[in-house]
This record gives sequence, structure tokens and C-alpha cells, in this order.
Amino acid sequence: MSGASRVIAGVGLADRPRKSRWPARLDLAQSVSGLALALFMWGHMFFVSSILVSADVMWAVTRAFEGYFVFGRPFPGIVSAIAAVVVALVVLHAGLAMRKFPANYEQYRAFVGHRRLLRHEDTTLWWVQALTGFALFFLATVHLYQMLMHPGNIGPYESSDRVWTGRWWPIYLVMLFCVELHGGIGLYRLAVKWGWFEGSDTRASRRRLRQAKWVATTFFVVLGLLTLAAYLRIGYAHRAEAGVPYTPAWLQRPPAAEPPFWWPSWLQEAPR
Ligand code: HEM
Repeated sequence: MSGASRVIAGVGLADRPRKSRWPARLDLAQSVSGLALALFMWGHMFFVSSILVSADVMWAVTRAFEGYFVFGRPFPGIVSAIAAVVVALVVLHAGLAMRKFPANYEQYRAFVGHRRLLRHEDTTLWWVQALTGFALFFLATVHLYQMLMHPGNIGPYESSDRVWTGRWWPIYLVMLFCVELHGGIGLYRLAVKWGWFEGSDTRASRRRLRQAKWVATTFFVVLGLLTLAAYLRIGYAHRAEAGVPYTPAWLQRPPAAEPPFWWPSWLQEAPR
């Protein structure tokens, strides 16, 4: 295709080339939505890993998100509302990210050529981020749909049953690596792009940022693996009663005490 026909095809006869602020605005929106999602994921990992402390703590975290300690009863709709906001952020962020993917073979070859030529870690990291982001289109939406539609089915037994008996662990395992690589690289790129933590020596600050990125990614992958192992262990032990929700001991009604043999039957409590 000649240069002239390219201009006509790309611009259209009615349009005049002009400067636009929209690419910059879209970049900013991508950064803000990415930052919000990455921070959400760090919070999410800490909440989900409460199972490592105890089943009661994970139960309390779950109920807290359902407003149980404020309203006196759980409202799982609150979790659905949070999930809906996360879905909106994911759709926005993914839609904006699509602008950066190579759109055809020519663009793909150009990128691969640059990557091989430059041999720069940041260029390779960008590619890892594009690939993990693409995988998350499919992995994250499945999980989010489950959380959106069944928000009341979260808890020590409920989640563990889903992980083991519901066979969700393979998707969580793959998603864990994708999300932690993607989020870690994303935050690092944000810091580099907008000049956060940039001291007088940019080379040294970039080296420190890269180290911080690997520390954060490794920390959350290890925490995630330990958490997943805990859900697997509880789910396996609970497999015969899969579907029975967890109730902390202090909420279970104590069994009725046997009355002494001499107690008149007409004074005995009706069976509960
Ligand atoms: C409001 C939205 C979300 C809620 C309520 C939520 C809740 C949960 C819960 C309760 C678990 C434990 C397993 C289970 O119950 O099935 C879990 C696991 C997991 N979630 Fe989410 N999640 C949300 C969004 C996300 C997003 C957006 C991602 C990633 C893109 C994600 C990634 C993961 C991963 C990787 C695991 C496995 C954890 C591990 O290996 O330790 N979640 N999530």
C-alpha cells in the first residue's frame, strides 16, 4: 500500500489532521484504573489469606464485607456491588490496554524485532504484561462472575469446597501467577512513567524500583500459594460434607443438656 492511500484510508477525506488530547487522557485513565486494580489485588490477597490465621478469622472478614457487624445480619449484595465496580474497572482497563497490543502481524514483527535488538528488561517486561493481561481477560471474568452472582457463598468451607470439590484450583493457580506478574510489572511501569520515587540518580532509582517489584511479586505469589494450599487442605478434609457452610463455634447452639433422671417429664423442655 502506498503512503498516499494510507493517509486517505486512515484519516478520511472529511477529517483534517489535528492535535488531540484524547490519547493522553486515555493513557491517564489506563494508569488510574490499573493503579486501583493493583491496590485492590493487594488488599484482596490479604483478605483471602486470612484463612492462614484461622477459619474463624476468614469467616469474620467475609461477614465484615457483608455488613454483618454493622447491620446485625449479612447482606451479600454489598459484595456483589464491590464485584460490579471491579468488573467495570477491569472492562475499562482491558479496553484501554487493547490500544497497545500489536494489531496485526506487521506490528507484531516490528515489536519482536525491537525486543531482540534492544535486549532491554523493561521491553521484555512489557511483553510479559501484555500476555498476562490477555490471559486475565478470560481468567478474571470467570472468577468475577462467580463472585458477582454468588456473593453469599464465600467463607472458610464455602470457598474451600469451591476450590477442591468445585475444582476451581487450576484456574486460581494460573490466575495467581498472571495477576501478580501483571500487577507488579504494572505498578513498576506506572512509577517509571509518571516519575514516582525518582531521585537525582535515575539509573539507581530504576534499579531500586525493579528490585521492589520482584520483592512484591515474590511475596504475593508465595502468600497466594500458601493460601491456595490452605483452601485445598480444608476443602479436601471437608469433601464429604461439601456444601455445608461454616459456622463459628460461638454461633452454634450448644446441645440441650440432659435433665437429671428424677426431673419430672412435664418440666422438660420441648425438643429444639
Ligand atoms: C470483588 C471482587 C472479588 C472478590 C469478592 C473475590 C473473592 C475471592 C475469594 C473469596 C477467594 C477465595 C476462593 C473462593 O472463594 O473462590 C478468591 C481467590 C482468588 N481471587 Fe478473587 N475476588 C475478587 C476479584 C478478583 C480479581 C479481580 C482477581 C484477579 C484478576 C482475583 C484473583 C483471585 C485469585 C488469584 C485467587 C486465588 C487466591 C490464592 O491462590 O491464594 N480476584 N477471591
